[in-house]
Amino acid sequence: MERTNWWKNAVIYEIYSRSFQDSNGDGIGDLQGIIRRLDYLQKLGIDAIWLTPVYRSPQDDNGYDISDYQDIDPMFGSMEDMEELIREAGKRNIRVIMDLVLNHSSDEHPWFLEAKKSRTHPYHDYYVWRDGEEGTPPNEMRAAFGGSAWEWVPEVKQYYFHQFSVKQPDLNWENPALRQEIYRMIRWWMEKGVGGFRLDVIDQIAKEPDRRITANGPRLHEFIREMSRETFQKGDLVTVGEAWGADPGIARRFSSPDGSELSMVFQFGHMVLDQKPGGEKWDLAPLDFVQLKKVLGKWQKELYGSGWNSLFWNNHDLPRIVSRWGNDGIYREKSAKMLATVLYGMQGTPYIYQGEELGMTNASYEIWDYRDIELLNLYKERLEKGYPEEEVMRSIHAKGRDNARTPMQWSDGPQAGFTSGEPWIKVNPNYTTVNAEAALADPDSVFYYYQKLIALRKQYDIFRDGQYEAVLEDHGQIFAYIRRTAEHRLFVLANFSDSEAEYELPAELFEGTCLIGNDSHLRTNVLNPYQAMMYYR
Ligand code: GLC
Ligand code: CA
Repeated sequence: MERTNWWKNAVIYEIYSRSFQDSNGDGIGDLQGIIRRLDYLQKLGIDAIWLTPVYRSPQDDNGYDISDYQDIDPMFGSMEDMEELIREAGKRNIRVIMDLVLNHSSDEHPWFLEAKKSRTHPYHDYYVWRDGEEGTPPNEMRAAFGGSAWEWVPEVKQYYFHQFSVKQPDLNWENPALRQEIYRMIRWWMEKGVGGFRLDVIDQIAKEPDRRITANGPRLHEFIREMSRETFQKGDLVTVGEAWGADPGIARRFSSPDGSELSMVFQFGHMVLDQKPGGEKWDLAPLDFVQLKKVLGKWQKELYGSGWNSLFWNNHDLPRIVSRWGNDGIYREKSAKMLATVLYGMQGTPYIYQGEELGMTNASYEIWDYRDIELLNLYKERLEKGYPEEEVMRSIHAKGRDNARTPMQWSDGPQAGFTSGEPWIKVNPNYTTVNAEAALADPDSVFYYYQKLIALRKQYDIFRDGQYEAVLEDHGQIFAYIRRTAEHRLFVLANFSDSEAEYELPAELFEGTCLIGNDSHLRTNVLNPYQAMMYYR
């Protein structure tokens, strides 16, 4: 099959499956709910939806703990619903991207159930085991969701390794039989007609726990190239790997234009600039804005012509961007549009996270209203360590993953139109004003701004091809850059702050057409709070 790189012109929409639309009143989003909302997505203009995992799962980590890769969890519907979704989306030129969780399975996966019974069972080696004494793990490595990364299994008198929760045992990619089994599963999904895959924590599959190596293990790219050859390259897919540990050099390998690995990775360099150096995301620090421009600019330059970027502010693991680096008070809509302008002028494939196109905000709940395993473990762990509760809650309100996981706000009706029952997690109380129905009725809404940006990206090649050049690099409020091709120029100018911003720039930059802007009140050498625009010549 010819590989067309269609994803270079695409915009992808991430659906957090359990929070998008419930269709049967059990309070949990499902596949029929997504089908019901396809027209809304088509109207926005997106090319593909990425579904967070809908496979059979005990839901210890909301589906990122899979117990059957070739079945749909009854909570989300059936395989027939999945096939219907692929068909119905296809009719609207929307491809369906599945989330592949290949670093670990659920501890309830049949492989693991067998693996933990006996050391000689063939599935035993599908996981990462080490000998040891009960109570004395092989080493001091910690799991991402708290506690030791090692769990004792008395039946085999060994520890298994888990980088995430105890219910997410790590798969052993050193084992060729496991790899082949995974490739068969991927090909099976390809035959179902999916448009691509998002690969969960893919840079952590080649772990070497004895050397404390988790991300970017020595055999990582060997495994990725093998998988790509055996699966993805047989189709015309988009593949995007989640890679917290990627620098531009690593990302160039992952996204090499020869197509030998993946289409692109999610890189997180720009997402860690509001935490204390050396700390965790919970250790809050103000955003270093100049650094943000430098980091995003570096990725633009270093991947130009030799790799491909993903562009995102949000996902199901990150707080809502308008609350994080915009303003979720009086400038909510204005700053949401500004953030979109800054990102959508860049080179790469943009990802919209559900509700971002409405300017949805963080939730500020009491601890008992949260559901996320990471957040709840963090709360317990930090209180035990003696952190004041107030400080822990401040971190949770700023960075907790449930900020992004509250139900999609469709209308000002009961439960925001998400469910006719009790939602699995509370709806953000601002749904009475922030919702899709209101946005669709207002020509000035964030929704229509995103719609326009998406259309512009399809209309002008410069969004795909232009070379990036930073402008006003050290300015403390303004984010500005130029994209150039031989004939054309795109100039993006935005005020990232809630106060006026002064600047001096050659008038020449403002020549041509203003493609889009969020404020009709133009002034010379001054930007209004959160004002943003794009000029094209
Ligand atoms: C990724 C997912 C996250 C999940 C983790 C473990 O980071 O995005 O939601 O908890 O991997 O699978
Ligand atoms: Ca449901």
